[in-house]
Amino acid sequence: TARPVLTDADFPPLKNDLILRAARGEPTERTPVWVMRQAGRYLPEFRETRAEHDFFRVCRTPELATRVTLQPIDRYAGLLDASIIFCDILVVPQALGMTVEMVPGKGPHFPEPLREPADLERLTTHVDVEKELGYALDAITLTRQQLAGRVPLFGFCGAPWTLMAYMIEGGGSKTFSKAKRWLFQYPDAASQLLQRLTEVAADFLVAQVNAGAQIVQVFDSWAGELSPADFERFSLPYLRQIAERVRAQLGDRAVPMVVFAKGAHFGLHALAHAGYDVVSLDWTVTPQEARRAMAGAPRVTLQGNLDPCLLFAPHDVLRARARQMINDFGVGGGHIANLGHGMMPDHDPEALRVYLEAVRDASTVSR
Ligand code: CP3
Repeated sequence: TARPVLTDADFPPLKNDLILRAARGEPTERTPVWVMRQAGRYLPEFRETRAEHDFFRVCRTPELATRVTLQPIDRYAGLLDASIIFCDILVVPQALGMTVEMVPGKGPHFPEPLREPADLERLTTHVDVEKELGYALDAITLTRQQLAGRVPLFGFCGAPWTLMAYMIEGGGSKTFSKAKRWLFQYPDAASQLLQRLTEVAADFLVAQVNAGAQIVQVFDSWAGELSPADFERFSLPYLRQIAERVRAQLGDRAVPMVVFAKGAHFGLHALAHAGYDVVSLDWTVTPQEARRAMAGAPRVTLQGNLDPCLLFAPHDVLRARARQMINDFGVGGGHIANLGHGMMPDHDPEALRVYLEAVRDASTVSR
């Protein structure tokens, strides 16, 4: 199932490379901005598509995935500096043979989660990502064509620890006690699972770049559930390995890489050493604290980090907080504006517009 390796020459020329420059640490005349879950249920046009199609049906149908990926790009024309392919981190457990359903109003559900180490035998041993996840790769190629160079396209994957947590918990969790039980009761089986997820995640990111992704992000949404020592043992080595594997496989076709380890303040210094160009922050750390924590480490670009709930605030409060954030990170380079986590279903699409305009206005470097 060899797929072609696509390069910039296969796509329309890029007209806005702000986020790629910021990720590489180059100067920017304005702070680039995008938001996690920018294609989502807060948009009426997304809900319309979802009313007709199941969540994973959208992911698996390139025309539909492209349509919803472009919805925020069209609506906020000129205000967003990146798109992110519509997909989910849980397509990797699916590729490993697990069943995952998206239950409306409840979130992801695994009818048969991993319960004991013997369950690892249920997982596919050699995952051919080009075959199992070809639909996501086709969606990337189609989306990049239809973006017509307006903004770069993000590919992404879940981090091994976060994927392991979902595969064992069977869905969201308050305590992650089932997944953490594995870490402490079955450390060898846990490491084996984390290693397998690392290899599939890295292969998937490489395939996404080969299909047209121009920057990639690794989401470790549950990193903050681990103690500092356990983050160092069960998350960080695999994040580092993903960066290494992707770079080694891509060679001179490497793209910028972003890591988002939500809640892992204690890990920021180490993350700056992990081989990523950008470290994404949630809202519970200030830019100043983050820079301090990373002193002495290789210089990385920071991404983030307004509390998404500020989009519920009166617009003047939202504008002031966006301006404050921009000033705290500093203008002219080294920052990609985002939220500290994703958009929520009850957000007002107009509040996002206010945020994007405030970021643009506060960060434009006059010359
Ligand atoms: O716009 C984008 O950011 C791109 C698409 C995207 C989705 N999921 C679409 C989605 C991305 C990057 C993700 C990543 C993802 N998925 C993460 C990491 C980021 C994070 O939020 O921490 C995680 C943990 C998941 C797993 C997942 N998928 C959960 C927990 C849920 C339910 C959350 C909810 O709000 O109900 C999903 C569903 C999901 N993934 C939705 C979207 C737009 C909403 C569900 C729907 O349309 O029914």
